[in-house]
Amino acid sequence: MPARWAPVGRLALLVYSVLGAGSCVLFAVSVPAPQGIDLGRIFFWTAITLALAALPVRLPGGVVAHTTTAPLIAAVFDSGLANPFAVCWIAFVGTLELRDLRRELPLWGTLYNRFDYVLSAFAAYVALQLTQTSVRPGDPLGTISQIAIAGIAFSFVNLILGVSLASLRTGTPLSRVWSISVSNVLSGLVALVPLGWLMAEIGGKVGLWAAFLFLVPLYLARFSFSKYAETRELFFGTVSALSQAIDAKDGFTRGHADRVSRIAGAIARELGLSERQIEQIELAGLLHDIGKIGVEDRILMKPQRLDSEEQELMRRHPIYGASILEPSAALRPLVQTILHHHENYDGSGYPEGLKGEEIPLGSRIIIVADAYEAMTSDRIYRKSIGHDRAMDQLNRFKGLQFDPTIVRCLQRIVEKKGADAFEISDLPPINYETLAELRHRLAREPVVRDAHAS
Ligand SMILES: [Fe+2]
Repeated sequence: MPARWAPVGRLALLVYSVLGAGSCVLFAVSVPAPQGIDLGRIFFWTAITLALAALPVRLPGGVVAHTTTAPLIAAVFDSGLANPFAVCWIAFVGTLELRDLRRELPLWGTLYNRFDYVLSAFAAYVALQLTQTSVRPGDPLGTISQIAIAGIAFSFVNLILGVSLASLRTGTPLSRVWSISVSNVLSGLVALVPLGWLMAEIGGKVGLWAAFLFLVPLYLARFSFSKYAETRELFFGTVSALSQAIDAKDGFTRGHADRVSRIAGAIARELGLSERQIEQIELAGLLHDIGKIGVEDRILMKPQRLDSEEQELMRRHPIYGASILEPSAALRPLVQTILHHHENYDGSGYPEGLKGEEIPLGSRIIIVADAYEAMTSDRIYRKSIGHDRAMDQLNRFKGLQFDPTIVRCLQRIVEKKGADAFEISDLPPINYETLAELRHRLAREPVVRDAHAS
């Protein structure tokens, strides 16, 4: 199978497996129909689940989160239900969203999500059955362990299937989807499990009407997930706008910093760094030249060679960059990377003349990404020299200006992905429109673009 079709093949395999397994489970629990089906109770839990499914939260990374875990866990623990028949059908029907009804998703997407919940709820039911014999009624520790095991079974299946689909659909590595989508809201998602058990207990002992009151904390939980997604979007949107402003001031026609960020991120990933480190290196790539805001335009835009005094002023931009970012707690981790992004491997760079491993790894990556990007893109005063000549130059100066390991790493990535590996950018080109053009474009494209929502 050609490499470029492999992800499509894997996506189809995942979808068919989930659809196949989900429909088998649904069939197996429904035929023959169990005794004692309480339709009113099934309807109640389905209605609660539907009410929560109506307010999904789109997390960064393409995963959609709900608070439907709580009523589904409640249905698993509700002894008045004919389980597993009831919980599987509540999961299948109750998790329907408005986007499914509006046909905004392809049919396979709608079915995948339904069967994801059926399999998750069934896994929780099986976990509960397996532990049932070893827990005495009224044993608090045993009950807590049972809630934990059922919750782990539900969340494991649910998150793995959700994250795997988002990863294959968007071509984003699984670890990255997990890191940006789930890891920050995981505690909130796990907290829904005991809440679900409590709903079942209250529903059984006080009455179903009392379980209905749980909608209030569940909507609050949903609100906290949406705040996380909004804050992240706001942060990356602002950084992206800032990086485009730097590009515009520096005289680039489009997305230089965005490409540096992608190249640097790809190198960091190839080196096996953690998702957090990769993200920081990508952010540093976007903002590496922010200090150029402090350099006069006559120097920045000068097409001729800079004289020594001008060079000296230009060489201050990493220091300006570090001072600009340092006061912001969110951007402070990037300060060292940005301060040293012009240090040469042999110690001949600036501002401090650091050498070899003394230079932060992020800075050694950025300098290679920046040089490669500069050589392979058109600038005002010269054209791209092309990938092969750019790699020749990087190889010529490895050990002098560049860390040889990083150059070899970039070479490996390009060999694997091809010379146009970093060409794709979702950023709009920077062009200075007239007011009429701007208004016309905004009328055509009302949707806010988010360059970092993968
Ligand atoms: Fe720079």
